[in-house]
Amino acid sequence: MYTCASFFAGVGGIDKGFENAGIFKTIYANEFDPFPVKTYEKNFDLKVDCRDIREVKASEIPDFQVMLAGFPCQAFSVAGYRKGFDDEKGRGTLFFELVRIFKEKKPEIIFLENVKNLVSHDNGNTFQVILQELQNEGYSVKFQVLNAMEYGNIPQNRERIYIVAFKNKEQYKNFEFPLPIKLETKLSDVIDFNTKIDDRYYYTEGKYKGDIYEQLVEAMKDDNQDIYQWRRKYVRKNKSGVVPTLTANQGEGGHNVCLIKTKNGIRKMTPHECFNVQGFPKDFVLPEEMSDAKLYKQAGNSVCVSVIQRIAENIKEAVEETEKKEKTA
Ligand SMILES: C[S@@+](CC[C@H](N)C(=O)[O-])C[C@H]1O[C@@H](n2cnc3c(N)ncnc32)[C@H](O)[C@@H]1O
Repeated sequence: MYTCASFFAGVGGIDKGFENAGIFKTIYANEFDPFPVKTYEKNFDLKVDCRDIREVKASEIPDFQVMLAGFPCQAFSVAGYRKGFDDEKGRGTLFFELVRIFKEKKPEIIFLENVKNLVSHDNGNTFQVILQELQNEGYSVKFQVLNAMEYGNIPQNRERIYIVAFKNKEQYKNFEFPLPIKLETKLSDVIDFNTKIDDRYYYTEGKYKGDIYEQLVEAMKDDNQDIYQWRRKYVRKNKSGVVPTLTANQGEGGHNVCLIKTKNGIRKMTPHECFNVQGFPKDFVLPEEMSDAKLYKQAGNSVCVSVIQRIAENIKEAVEETEKKEKTA
């Protein structure tokens, strides 16, 4: 088994993807928001260290071989603050907390996930700094932007950058990112268009202020199992036939969770369906007492598990290939 330490762990999407590859096990996780921590602990046999990462000394973390981190992306996203490492709320600098930890713990492999725009942020300077920090510590780095609908067999348009850094040159050489695969998972595999569920997810006449319901009925005439989004004043059909990128702020404003037309009426996707659209296994447990708003946020903040799994499987192959060569040499 390869031991992993997971930072900014959220609900553990990256951990799940690695675990599914068969040879990786998270032995330490850090996350300071108590709500995703609750979800994490329902699904992993591990107590999360819920301190702010800035308060965690590297010496307090058990030794591990693989660092996993989908570090906060607000500072890097175009929709976010565009402040990069200078983000005054300090979010941009959280990457340096990882640097502090990998400098001391010297993991064999580092896996990072972030928004696609990380590469172009500040004319590429932010990304250069990240690469430089890894290379200065002796890591060889490969990175690629992968879309969940092309690489994860999941009907979500979610482009993310994945960075894999190896201490061992041979492992680095043997590692390739996965190739695209056919999207075979249908919307109806991840969204239940047939069963009547709790009333709170449905839009009905008079339930909300104004004429939202009437507008939805008007705009959602087709019965083609499409995905719609309420855009402040109008309803938009998502033409690509997949779910648009789930975001962390979905659920907060009320109407920005994707909408669907089902046999039983027009409704929001449920938190469970959002986790399905992130490729989480069907048996992933969502705490019953947790509010939908919190769960929507956790799903949006997380990762596409099946993409991570495919990358982790390739890391596994690279590691095993290297071991084989070393044995026969
Ligand atoms: C983009 S999300 C990562 C989600 C994760 N990959 C998953 O699968 O759910 C970033 C996470 O970092 C956490 N975070 C932000 N600042 C932190 C800090 N200073 N210390 C610890 N965790 C922090 C947030 O609460 C959030 O859950």
